[in-house]
Order: sequence, then structure tokens, then C-alpha cells
Amino acid sequence: MRPKLEKFVDSLPRLSVLEPKRKTKDGVHYEITMEQFRAKVHRDLPATTLWGYNGQFPGPMIEANRDEPVHVTWLNHLPSQHLLPVDLSIHGLNRLPIVRTVVHLHGIETKPDSDGHPEAWYTSGFQETGPVFSRKTFTYPNHQRGSLLWYHDHAMGITRLNVYAGLAGMYILRDKQEKVLNLPAGDYEIPLMITDRSFNADGSLFYPAGPEDPAPNLPHPSILPAFNGDTILVNGKAWPYLEVEPRKYRFRMLNASNTRSYQLQLDSDDSTFQQIGSDGGLLRKTVEMNTINFQPAERMDVIIDFSKAAGKSLTLKNNLGPDADPNDDTANIMQFRVNQPLKNKDKSKLPSSLSVIPSLKNNKVSVVRYLKLIGSEDEFGRPLLLLNNKHWHDPVTENPQLGTTEIWALTNTTNFSHPIHIHLIQFQVMDHQPFDLDQYNADGKIIFTGPPEAPAVNNRGWKDTIEVPAANITRVIAKFAPYSGEFVWHCHILEHEDYDMMRPYIVEDNADDKK
Ligand code: C2O
Ligand code: CU
Ligand code: CU
Repeated sequence: MRPKLEKFVDSLPRLSVLEPKRKTKDGVHYEITMEQFRAKVHRDLPATTLWGYNGQFPGPMIEANRDEPVHVTWLNHLPSQHLLPVDLSIHGLNRLPIVRTVVHLHGIETKPDSDGHPEAWYTSGFQETGPVFSRKTFTYPNHQRGSLLWYHDHAMGITRLNVYAGLAGMYILRDKQEKVLNLPAGDYEIPLMITDRSFNADGSLFYPAGPEDPAPNLPHPSILPAFNGDTILVNGKAWPYLEVEPRKYRFRMLNASNTRSYQLQLDSDDSTFQQIGSDGGLLRKTVEMNTINFQPAERMDVIIDFSKAAGKSLTLKNNLGPDADPNDDTANIMQFRVNQPLKNKDKSKLPSSLSVIPSLKNNKVSVVRYLKLIGSEDEFGRPLLLLNNKHWHDPVTENPQLGTTEIWALTNTTNFSHPIHIHLIQFQVMDHQPFDLDQYNADGKIIFTGPPEAPAVNNRGWKDTIEVPAANITRVIAKFAPYSGEFVWHCHILEHEDYDMMRPYIVEDNADDKK
């Protein structure tokens, strides 16, 4: 394992915005290449071999404007050997090339052939392609609200390894409505991609090849049901610091970790998060948060006001709870040093009223689906997590009609949380209701142990990923539009998504049938 690393010795990398290759009347065109490269993650750790978009981790940032389509040709120039141990026993991977990639832009409304379907994978130079592969260039219409999206790998059965190797980047979609709010911008708007990793002493990435004490019949390598790294990276650096002025900053935060969720806090009495946005853009109103529950793939848009903290240092913490080991380094994320002179008077605003979000509860609901999150076992006795007891390859069971509104009642019968994500749409969280899991395990009956609870105040805007707590039914409501075809929904713990908590779903269009 790696040596102990001193915290807050590297400065936070600012993410560069990618220049388009060209602009035409049908939009902005980019070309992005997945490559292997080496980077220093910490001052005292030898360079790490990573995979990244354009040889960067995080990948280059794309800035898009509402209603201006973006086209990206995603090229794979990765080596033919994987950086990390690949379990070939799942999803028939032993019959497929090992290094396969496909890119999904998380949060985008786009057609299925640009959505990064897990079986639309391809190898280096498009030499081999998966059964659903159809195009080299993906189109993102951007006909949706301003928000922080992110792109990451989504290849069948190895998403956890491809993303862990570094295949993730941010995408900011801007709209005019947001501009008039006069939020902190330019140098004062900072994207933060928070991830966890582990490293070997030589600087290389560590990802376990299987359980520490494997049963003799177990495949090797063998997928694990969870992996938490012991090192927290922000924008690709371990525990960085950021020097700031005594003024307001806007932080666009993304949890791009495989399994880890965070309880974000600031270690200062007079500083809190003023949260203005979530996955699908601005909230209705600014909400003050002392602690932010941050699940994999969620985005939190917050303003921190450092104006009363001149001369101080603040730490962005991850509250591990009262029983945590005090030596657990993952209790720290990064540091803000309020040591810069104020360049200009802070004229940015922190409006209390932010945006209009019509409630979907007023829509006519066509279907209510009861969908179970289930723990079972595979033939080797390994944990196997399923949605509605179905495997990825089972026929489609969720098939909303284009333009209709549905309620999905996500029923978690396991004893841990799952961040559930649905492609194509943004949903609204209706409520969370606890039930008796022992009773359910005994006779399969759902007996509620309390009333439905409203979602947390920062989860009352548009969401595409939501924590479904253990022994709980979380109801989400969504309108399935504007595109028909095959998409996916899944748990965003990548170890679960790969095995086997992901399902295809089809948005059906009656007009298609008549053709
Ligand atoms: Cu961010 Cu289907 O995932
Ligand atoms: Cu997605
Ligand atoms: Cu899960």
C-alpha cells in the first residue's frame, strides 16, 4: 500500500474548457480521445498510470449552451490490456475483447443511439464493436435546462474499472435564465469532481482482484459488491487546497466515486452551504445546508461565502459519523485557504428565489410501477444484486409510452442504500416511506413502519439519481420524453451496475408501431 500522504499540499487543478474542433450551423463539434497517460496525484506519490479523455483525469470540460447541439466523436486509443483486474466470469465477458468503451453523458436528453448504451461499446480504433453499436459521433441536443452533467464510460460489465481508471469528465450546460441571476461566475465558479481511489506504493492504482479471503471455487479476478478507496481526490489531486478571496464562490460538485457516498460538511461555525441546484439544474429556492448527503453520480450546486473567513482556513469534510476511526483519512476532502486579497467588490448575488419547477404531481399518471431492489447470490455464492429479480439480459419489463407520466416506486429490500439513476429523463422525488424489512424477509409482505416522508429540501428540484435507503420505498415521478427507444436504468454504485443492477427500458412510441 501507499505511504501516508500529507494533506493539503497540492493545489486544486482548475479544469480547462475544451475548444471545439469546429462550429457549423448544426452545432459545435468536438473530438475526444481516450488515452493512457501518467499523472501526479500527490506531491509525495510517484506518477500514476491512468486512462483519461484526451489524456486527462478529469477529462476536459465541455461548456455547452442551451439549444445549441454538441457533437462529439469519442475515439478509443487505449491499449489492449486493462490497467485493472477484469472479472471475465460475468456477462459472458470471456467471449469479448477486454478493453471496450462507450461514453454516456449523464443527465442528457438524447436519442438512444447517442446515449452510450452499454452494448454499443467499441475497441481501439473501432476495430470491434458491440451488438448495439451504431455510430462514432454522438449528438447532444441540449434542449433542456442549464445544469452540470458529466460524461463517463458505460461499457457492459467493466464500467466500474473503466471509470476507476479515470474515464470521467464534466459538461456544463448554460442557459440564459441562469445568467440573469448574477451568480458567482468566471474565476469564482469552480467545478469539483470528488472521487476516491487507492494506490500502491509505486503510485499505481489499486483495485482489488477479489475478496481478501476467496472461496476456492471463486473465479479470479472476481467482482466485489462494493469498493471504497482510502484516498480522496478532487479534480484528480489527493486532498488538494484552494486559495480563495473573502467573497462568494459557486462550487459545481460531482460525486464521481464508484461506491462511496459522502456527508459533506464545513469545519467552521460561521460557514454553511447555500445550495442552489441539484442534478437537473437550479432549485426553486436557495436552501441552507449544514450537511449534504452526496451519493454517487449526484451533482450539488452550492455557494460558499468566505467573506467572514478572511485569514482562516476551512476544510471540506466528509462526516463519517461518531463511530469512525479518527485515523480514517477519508474524513477530509479538501481545504479552502481564505488568504487572497479581494480583487474586486463581490457584486455577485445569492438570490433566494431561483427558478420555476412545475410539479409533476399534477400530471395524469399512466402507470405506477413497483420495482424491487433485491439481493441474491450467484452460482459461486457471491452477492448478486438485481432489479425486480431480473438480470440485464432478461427481456424489457419497463416500457413507458412516449410523453406519459409514470410513478416508479423503488422498493429497497436490501440492507443498504442504492443511488438509482434513470437515463433520458429528470424526475421528481415524491417521498420515501420506511417498511419492516424483517417482516418482508419472513413472508414477503410490505408493512410500513412510518408515514411517507418528504424528500430532503435539496432533493426537491429535478433529479436523475436518488438514494433509495434500505427498507424503504422511494417514489419518483417522471414524464418519459422527448425520445423513444431503448435506454437503461440502474444503480449508480458501479460495482452494482456491473453485476447486475442495471436494466434496459424502452420508451414506446405508438407512431413507431404504425410505420
Ligand atoms: Cu452516470 Cu447510466 O450513468
Ligand atoms: Cu445517465
Ligand atoms: Cu446499488
